[in-house]
Order: sequence, then C-alpha cells, then structure tokens
Amino acid sequence: MSVDWVIVTAPTDRGAIPTDELAPALRTLAARTPGVEFRTAVLGGDGRSVTEALDDAVVGGAREVLVVSGQTLADRSMDAWFRRVIGHWLRTRADEDLPAVRIGASLCEVDAYADVLAAAVDAGGAAASTTTAPLVSPLWEQIPGFARHVLVCRGPRCSAQGSGESVSALKAELDAHGLGDDDVLVTVTGCLFPCAQAPVMAVYPDNVWYHGATADRVGRIVDEHLRGGAPVTAWLGERADSGAHVSESGCAAQM
Ligand code: FES
Repeated sequence: MSVDWVIVTAPTDRGAIPTDELAPALRTLAARTPGVEFRTAVLGGDGRSVTEALDDAVVGGAREVLVVSGQTLADRSMDAWFRRVIGHWLRTRADEDLPAVRIGASLCEVDAYADVLAAAVDAGGAAASTTTAPLVSPLWEQIPGFARHVLVCRGPRCSAQGSGESVSALKAELDAHGLGDDDVLVTVTGCLFPCAQAPVMAVYPDNVWYHGATADRVGRIVDEHLRGGAPVTAWLGERADSGAHVSESGCAAQM
C-alpha cells in the first residue's frame, strides 16, 4: 500500500460516530501496515468531518491519503457526496502543498466482502428477545420546555464547511453563559436544504436562519440574538419566500 494515511468513514448522519465501532478493525489494520495512520471521519452528523480529517492529514505530513467509506452497501448518492466534499476540500486549498487524495472502492465491491458476510453467518448471531428496552418511556412523553431551539445543520455540505466546529463553539458559548437546554435547545440536523449558504443555523420560534454560521460567528449570535433577543441581521440567510421577516424589535414577524 503506497498510501500513508487512511480515513475511514461511515454514513453517520444515520448513526453514531464511527470511531468506537471501527477502532478494533483499525487497530488490526494498523498492526498489519506499520507506518500508515488510520483515522475515522463522518460525512455528516456528529464527529470529525471528512474535511477536518483531511486537514489533520496535512498537519500530520501525509503524502498520499486514501478515503474509504465504511458503508457496507453501495450508495450512489453517498459516493457522490464523498467526491463533492473531497473535491471542495481540494479546490479551497489549491495553493497549498496537499497530499494526493484517493477514494476507495465501496466495501461491497471488494471481493473479500463475501468473506465478511460469511464470517457474520458463521458467527450465528445472538437470539432476539422480548426483554429489550421499550420504544416509549414516561420521560419522553412531553415536549421539553425551552425558550429557543437552534437547529445546526450537519449535512454533508455544512459539515464540509465547518458546522462541526460551529456546534462545539455554540455549546461552549452557551455553557459559558450558563444557558441550558431549557433556555436554548441545540439540535444537530441533517441537510436543511439551503446548502449554498453553508454552514446553516436556524433559530426558532424566531424563524431566523443564518448563513455562513461558522464557529467564529457563534459568539456574536449567542450574545446578540440568543441572549439579547436581536438577530444578527448581517448574517441572515437568503430566503425563497417572504413568509417571515425580522422586525425592528428583533422578533420574527409573520407577514
Ligand atoms: S448540508 Fe446544510 S443545508 Fe444542506
């Protein structure tokens, strides 16, 4: 293997951060291929994004990086996202000394995939039972009370443009001001649609959407909007309709 850095991802916008799940396999691979650095990343959702992992590879001095999707089924749209996100990363750093980046084949296209399935079949599995935790709980019966709800997009485009850092900065800023879930409930979402305005953040019930909500802008959004009640008008996202506008008092007014 000529690559010196491998980034393994999973479709984690539909699951958990892959780091823990992949750790045993990556340890095995690392033992087989000394000198190759193995890292995990997410295309969307919580965790270090593909672009951040590629930045790590640059800092780590990688010369050839292979990005492998940990998804086990071919997914044409997911593959397209990989190519776009990595293409974006290469374009935005065109004047830097970058490693060569390669994109691995889908796991199910690799001959050994049959062996992986065969191993699962041979293992026999564990018996399903009726004693699992219920799908409902008294704890989940009521919608929690909160003053504002902030939706932070961690879809593929927003993640590629730093929304993971925006979420971390937002949570840190809210913590620093003693604001809990009952003040500002933060929810990480999948694609919110206006990807060209990435990273996107929406605040309800104010119906205020921010474009370019990068980590360095979060402090002002918290201070002026979430604490002060006045949306930062300079960063309002462009809207397709005029159904809601920010009034002079700062609250969204339905027109
Ligand atoms: S990925 Fe964030 S709006 Fe589409």
